[in-house]
Amino acid sequence: MNAKHQHAHRFQFTMAITVAGLLLGSFVIALVSAQKPSSEPLTANWVVRTPNADGTFRATYLNLKQEGPRITGSIRVTQFYYLISQSTGGPDGFTITGTMMDGKSERKVQYEGRLVGNELHVSTRRRPTDKPTEMVAVRAPVGEGALPQRNPLPTLHRVADNGLARTPPMGWNSWNKFASRVDDATVRSIADAMAGNGMKEAGYLYVNIDDTWEAGRDANGNIQTNKKFPDMKALAAYVHSKGLKLGIYSSPGPNTCAGYEGSYGHEEQDARTYAAWGIDYLKYDWCGARTLYTDEEMPALYQIMGDALRKTHRPIVYSLCQYGRLDVWKWGADVGGNLWRTTGDIRDAWDSMSRIGFGQNELAQWARPGHWNDPDMLEIGNGGMTETEYKTHLSLWAMLAAPLLAGNDLRSVTPEILAILTNREVIAIDQDKDGKQGKQAWKSGEQEIWTRPLSGGAQAVALFNRATEPAKITVRWSDIGVKEKAKLRDLWSHQNIEWPGPEYPVTVPGHGVIMLRVSR
Ligand code: GLA
Repeated sequence: MNAKHQHAHRFQFTMAITVAGLLLGSFVIALVSAQKPSSEPLTANWVVRTPNADGTFRATYLNLKQEGPRITGSIRVTQFYYLISQSTGGPDGFTITGTMMDGKSERKVQYEGRLVGNELHVSTRRRPTDKPTEMVAVRAPVGEGALPQRNPLPTLHRVADNGLARTPPMGWNSWNKFASRVDDATVRSIADAMAGNGMKEAGYLYVNIDDTWEAGRDANGNIQTNKKFPDMKALAAYVHSKGLKLGIYSSPGPNTCAGYEGSYGHEEQDARTYAAWGIDYLKYDWCGARTLYTDEEMPALYQIMGDALRKTHRPIVYSLCQYGRLDVWKWGADVGGNLWRTTGDIRDAWDSMSRIGFGQNELAQWARPGHWNDPDMLEIGNGGMTETEYKTHLSLWAMLAAPLLAGNDLRSVTPEILAILTNREVIAIDQDKDGKQGKQAWKSGEQEIWTRPLSGGAQAVALFNRATEPAKITVRWSDIGVKEKAKLRDLWSHQNIEWPGPEYPVTVPGHGVIMLRVSR
C-alpha cells in the first residue's frame, strides 16, 4: 500500500468512525433529551406576581416538572407550600392538586391551566363553588421562590420573665378593621384619637400595627418597611409623644400570613431593628413557619425570638400567635411570651365571638400576671354585632382576664361604642391585679353564670344569656361562695344594688349580660 492509498484508507476509516460516532452521539442525545425534563413544555419554575397596593408583590410559584402525561413538583402560595400529588392533562389543559400538612390537618389546592405561548394561564378557587381566580404565570429563574433550608433548632431553656404585662395588655390593633389598608397616616390618626377620646385614660396604651407593613430586606438583611410606612422610627416617636406605645407584627416563618416578609433566619437582627425603631410590642404569628416546621417544634422557634427580644434590653411585650396549637398555655411563658392566642381568628359576629369567649373555661389555671390567655382582639364597634352583644364581648373578655385590644376605627367611633370600650368598672375587672381568670360557675341551657375572684376577697359575677330571647337567671349566692350579705354593684348600670337576700333573680336580654362586683 502506497502512501496515497494509506492516506485514503485512514481517511475512510476516520470518516466511518466519525459517522458512527455522530450517529451514536445523536442517538444518545435523542435518548437523553427524551428523558430531559426541559424539553417538556410545562417544565419550568412558573411565577405569578400579584402587585399589592404598597409596592410589594404577592408571589405564587408553580414549580412544574412534566414527565409525559404526568406533572409533578410544588406549588408555593406565599406561606403555603404544597407538593403536587395528582395531575391530569398536559400543555393544552391540565389540572394539578397540591397537598400539605398543616399541623395535624391536610390542606389542598387545585389549579387548572394551559400553556399560551410563553405564558401559563392558570386559575384556582378557594372552594369548589367560588368563582375561579384567573392568573398569568411567567417563567422564573430556577430556584427562585424555593423554600429556604431548615435552620437547626435551639435546645429549650426558660426565657427569663421580662416583667411586663402584669395586667392584660390594653390597646388597639389594626387588623380587624383595616387589614392590609393600615398605613402611617392611619396609625397616627388612631393614636390622636386614642389620646383625645378617653381611650388612653381608660388604659388602652398600645397602638399595634398588624401584618402588611413589611417589604423585603436590604443587602445586609435588614428588614424594610413598604411605602405605607415611610419611617417607622418617626412613627414610633410620634406615638410615644402622645403617651402611647407602638406595636408591630412578624412571623417565625419566611412569610407572614398575608405573604409578607417574616423573621425567619433574621430573628436577632429584626429584634434589634424593632428596638432601634422604638417598638414596644411584638405579635409573632406562626403562619409561614408551618412550611418548614411541625407544631411540636413551635416552642423552639418562639424561644428564638423570646431570647432575641430580651437581648435588646428594650421592654417589648411578646405576643404569641399560633392559634392555641400544641397547648401553648403550657409553654408560652417559658419561651418568654406575655400572652398567647388560644384560638383561630375572631370574626365580627355573635357566633364567632361567643364560641371563642365561652370556650375558654378550661384554660383559667394558665393565666397569671405577666402571662395571659389571648382569645383574640376585640370586634367592638365594627358593626357586625349589636350594642348588647358588644357589652357581652367586653364583659366576657374582662371575666377571662383577656388582653383588650380594640379593633375598630377609633377616629369615627360613636359615643355608644366608646362608652362600652371605656367602661371603667368592667375594665377594672379585666385589670384586677391578682390576674386570676374567671370560670363558668353555673349553666342551664343557654344561660350561664361566670365568676372571677378579685383582689381583696371580692368577686366578679357575670350572668350571660346566650339565647336570642330574654331569660330569667337567678344567682343563689351560696352556690358561688358568697356566705353573707355583701355589697353589690352593677357594672353596666353603674348602680349599687340593695342586698336581695339569698337569691338574686334578674331578666337578662337576649345575647346580653348582667355584670356584678360582689364585695364585703
Ligand atoms: C393571622 C392572625 C391574625 C392576623 C393575620 C394577619 O390570621 O391570626 O390575627 O394577624 O394573620 O395576616
